[in-house]
Amino acid sequence: MNDAVLSPPPVGQPGGPKVLLEVFGCQMNKLDAELVVGALKRSGYDFTDRDEEADAVLMVTCSIRDQSEHRVHSHLGALEVAKRQRPDLAVGVLGCMASREGEALLRRWPGLDFVLGTRDFPTVARVLDEVRADRTRVVAVDGSPQVSEERSIEVRPQRSRAFLTVMRGCDKRCTYCVVPNTRGVEVSRPMEEVLDEAHRLVDDGVVELTLLGQTVNAWGRREGRSLGELLERLEELDGLRRVRFITSHPEEMDDPLIDAMGRCRKAGLFLHLPPQSGSDAVLRRMARGYTADRYREIARVLKARIPGVQLGADVIVGFPGETDEDFEATVRLLEEVRFSQAFLFRYSPRPGTPAWGRMEDDVPEDVKRARLARLMALQHAIQEERHRSLVGTRHEVLVEGVSRRDSSRLFGRNLAFDRIVFEGDPAWTDSFVEVEIEESTSLTLAGRPVGAPAAAAR
Ligand code: 5AD
Ligand code: SF4
Repeated sequence: MNDAVLSPPPVGQPGGPKVLLEVFGCQMNKLDAELVVGALKRSGYDFTDRDEEADAVLMVTCSIRDQSEHRVHSHLGALEVAKRQRPDLAVGVLGCMASREGEALLRRWPGLDFVLGTRDFPTVARVLDEVRADRTRVVAVDGSPQVSEERSIEVRPQRSRAFLTVMRGCDKRCTYCVVPNTRGVEVSRPMEEVLDEAHRLVDDGVVELTLLGQTVNAWGRREGRSLGELLERLEELDGLRRVRFITSHPEEMDDPLIDAMGRCRKAGLFLHLPPQSGSDAVLRRMARGYTADRYREIARVLKARIPGVQLGADVIVGFPGETDEDFEATVRLLEEVRFSQAFLFRYSPRPGTPAWGRMEDDVPEDVKRARLARLMALQHAIQEERHRSLVGTRHEVLVEGVSRRDSSRLFGRNLAFDRIVFEGDPAWTDSFVEVEIEESTSLTLAGRPVGAPAAAAR
């Protein structure tokens, strides 16, 4: 089984039917999984990470690239076999794939019992009860645009950190992207609702909040608000130490937000601001709404007005029609902006997107691979250089836990979202520790704690 299974599993109702929950894809899916856990727990379910003792297997799925869907299909294939031995096992697909494919998924996989779209999570317990009691098959993929965000504060996977959805859906029509189809129209949650949830999370020990939205920096614009206002309000929240937000759209980066980021001491010094390409022709075909020079200008202003801010990128190589010159323009953008991290992807045509059927996937796979490899090598070199320059500096690190790769070390992140490993006591998890960087590679920063952990998160 793959590492998407929640492990350790959340604690549910002991003795209740056991659910194995798998989560694929983005942070938003992880938070949706929390909503699912909360709803199931309230209805008497328990959880497991072992196939053999599961009464139900549920998958929160991702459609962003063909590969993401492929993993779910191969797992559904394996579950068909398991189900022949255990016909009472309930199997459900939730989230983006359910929204995108709906009933077609049930037709393809006879062992699948239900599909529940991205706006239908609140009904998960009722649907699962129904499926288990009557062996009916259920499709629900058209929930209301206003999703109930009711969460069980106590099912959060980490004590000191939490995600908070501030908006759902997306009204952009980037031509490669399936999200507007799977997550629907953009809806911002009202300020008071967001602040109320933030309060409850902080009361429960959260010191770092990550606000989530597909175009999070456009939060509230319909209501004449700016995300900057929300940052200012969160700045006043006692006990809260850090606020991050992902993902921002370059076209929506406005002055009030940049000002607020500069002023608010809790605002993280990291902005995920995907350029996607450095070529104007490609950006136009992607319908991103900005040019490469406009992107450079935004990056320049951000770095000038928010000292120490780091930018994160997403880049797609091999978009239809991308020439060698287009690709070189992307190389130049990465060289100039010097992102502190970058997610690099090969274009994957997605059914139902504006590019599907209109723009031929004409960049050969080996060219896409070669371009990706070149960007990766460049990005490694950029990160290596930046990391080297950090040796000898000190950082306040919020400890996230024991490093998976090296169990003798802890890891955590500084305000700029850099991952830092160091030796220490696992009991420091969820506390702030001052760490001096001693060693670096392109991927890691390693250091030693300076003094005892301070200001433990409650
Ligand atoms: N092919 C490849 N990458 C994609 N992304 C979104 N859609 C596609 C696609 N069809 C990438 C974008 C986005 C990130 C979440 O995934 O870079 O920012
Ligand atoms: Fe997709 Fe573009 Fe919306 Fe991001 S802004 S979710 S890439 S359509």
